Amino acid sequence: MCGIFGFVSATGLPVRAVVDALRTLEYRGYDSWGIAYSNDERLIVYKQAGRLPGEVPSLPSTSVALGHTRWATHGGVSDENAHPHLDCTETLAVVHNGIIENYHPLRQALEATGHRFRSTTDSEIFAHLLEELLRRSEREAHGATPVESEMRVVTAVRHAFERIRGLNAFIIMHRPSRQLVAIKSTSPLVIGIGRAGVFVSSDAIALVGHAERIYYLRDDDVALLSAEGPRLFDRCTGEPRPIRWEPLTVHPADTSLGGYPHYLIKEIHEQPRVIERILRERLESAHELAELIAKSYGTFLVGCGTAGYAALCGSYLFSRIARRHVNAVIASEFKYQEHFLTDRSLVIALTQSGETVDVIEAVQAAKRRGATVAALVNVMGSTVSRLADFAVPLSAGPEQSVLSTKAYTAKLAILLLAAHFLNGSEHVGLDVLWRAVEGMEVALAPATLDRIRAVADRLVAAEHCYVIGRGLSYPTALEAALKIKEATYIHAEGFAGGELKHGVIALIEDGSPCLVFSPLDETRPDILSGAMEVRSRGGWIVGISPEPDEAFDVHVPVADVGDASPLVSIVPAQLLAYELAVRRGFDPDRPRNLAKSVTVK
Ligand code: AGP
Repeated sequence: MCGIFGFVSATGLPVRAVVDALRTLEYRGYDSWGIAYSNDERLIVYKQAGRLPGEVPSLPSTSVALGHTRWATHGGVSDENAHPHLDCTETLAVVHNGIIENYHPLRQALEATGHRFRSTTDSEIFAHLLEELLRRSEREAHGATPVESEMRVVTAVRHAFERIRGLNAFIIMHRPSRQLVAIKSTSPLVIGIGRAGVFVSSDAIALVGHAERIYYLRDDDVALLSAEGPRLFDRCTGEPRPIRWEPLTVHPADTSLGGYPHYLIKEIHEQPRVIERILRERLESAHELAELIAKSYGTFLVGCGTAGYAALCGSYLFSRIARRHVNAVIASEFKYQEHFLTDRSLVIALTQSGETVDVIEAVQAAKRRGATVAALVNVMGSTVSRLADFAVPLSAGPEQSVLSTKAYTAKLAILLLAAHFLNGSEHVGLDVLWRAVEGMEVALAPATLDRIRAVADRLVAAEHCYVIGRGLSYPTALEAALKIKEATYIHAEGFAGGELKHGVIALIEDGSPCLVFSPLDETRPDILSGAMEVRSRGGWIVGISPEPDEAFDVHVPVADVGDASPLVSIVPAQLLAYELAVRRGFDPDRPRNLAKSVTVK
């Protein structure tokens, strides 16, 4: 996915505002970047491969500008393939998030009519397609009224958008009219209005400091931003429609580093406060979720990556606490299993961004079969939050590191509460979560951090790392391995402890590091014997457990918090991933090849 941003300002704004917005949006993709703005005569474009530099050339103020930070899909990482892309006349600049699935025949047709392409991207075709449609409309424009002339760009964008297939969001600048047009299908776009002008972005956090009110664009909208302000039209008919503004609730403090060196460590440390907020604000939502589950005949938790592991942990929680069978399915696999869905099914989508295309497709499949859809989402206003029949805000605040941490433990907290509501034991759920908040504080304290740093010093050059857990700790093992993989590029793999002897143990060599999650529950005897099996073959064992054991070479103590152990046990693993990334010289917030939300298949 990519980050796109633009503004129109009657009074003029520094072009640097676009660069600053791209820094905020870099979590969406960061292999190249670019900006375009209009001076009085022409379009000025800066774009290059690589991340946004600390310093950019001195930039003027202008009335209209846009920018893009890229996660490459079609076309390699190069200066030419960076956005914005221009048409042949250099009066149109386009930034794009998504994939134009039918770009190849469109490009061939445009080249056949003489259009000259500068890049190998799919995105560039949209600029030339628009140019072609505008040229035709100019020929028909004789005698057009001023309104019709002003609407020519919007009309051309609507018609061009009808010609392409795929999930896409565009911001288009038409230099002569100093207009921006914004249009999307599934990929997110939000417009904002403030004293200095009108803005459009992939994510509301880039509107902080600019807009007081926002509006999440819908798939059947097209927005025209001009010096006269924002206007909204029906994408199919072109008819004007009202903008239903809502207040921008994200605040500058939410998006700043707050004195931390990276967002990852900041967000790891925010987790106790997030769980407290859930305990204070989300009980009713958890109760309603429990009621939906009680009414359903078949409940499916779906998510990707970290959210998928939260789903798996949820299935264990509902089994242990409420003796309720709840399925957990990786969202990208859900469409291959949707056949048994009925109108009594309940699909609960777990997604921090609310824009992960695999989750969106799972939700759409569920709705096609008449199932009820609930969602646990951190970004309200996102696609999944709007598709769901019932959306539960995670209340975690903006999560800007590519690595998901606080959104993960927030999902677990809500699922644990829902399981206790389902079981009629909410007081137990509240109590164990308050204990988990304290346990997280202890896990974040200097004493634990010293142990984690010692482990990081030992593992800094490791090529492989194994992570095992059983029961509730099996999803924790998977999530811990993902954190280490993403942040450090060490080949870390999580396994169910019982799987060691079914092949995995063949991998163990002298000094092989193995993290072992061993809460004081029914899994302890078996997971400790698994740890001994690894140790007796030369493995180096890090035990994350309330109690030490002879199987551990290093013991990282964590609080004993019963069924809430997944919320506390994951914290040392998150910290280890962070410490290792820093030692290995990587940016823990922007891992290579990754993006915060995968909006393309
Ligand atoms: C988590 O650290 C990863 N960045 C990734 O697995 C992520 O959890 C996954 O892409 C799902 O994102 P979502 O929660 O926004 O849907």
